[in-house]
Amino acid sequence: MKKLTFFFDGIEVSAIPGQSIGAALLESGTKVLRSTRIENKPRGMFCGIGVCFDCLVVINGVPNQRACLTEVAEAIQVINQQGSGAYPIEGAS
Ligand code: FES
Repeated sequence: MKKLTFFFDGIEVSAIPGQSIGAALLESGTKVLRSTRIENKPRGMFCGIGVCFDCLVVINGVPNQRACLTEVAEAIQVINQQGSGAYPIEGAS
């Protein structure tokens, strides 16, 4: 079966077409997908059906994307979301 490649925190991850980003990351051994806003605690796949929001990641620069519901695509850049994943505010230092 042909596989896709995407990146998580800059590391190449292999996935099956149609697979969710969360499933591909779990298969690769990646368990931590984000950290909480207040206490910086690690979170990862929990419900796997889009309900708990523990799997939020940044995909191609867009924060708050659920890894369990988002299908992999070739060469997308996924990063571990820190806190709320808010966009940087222009002009802020
Ligand atoms: S794992 Fe619960 S919303 Fe994605």
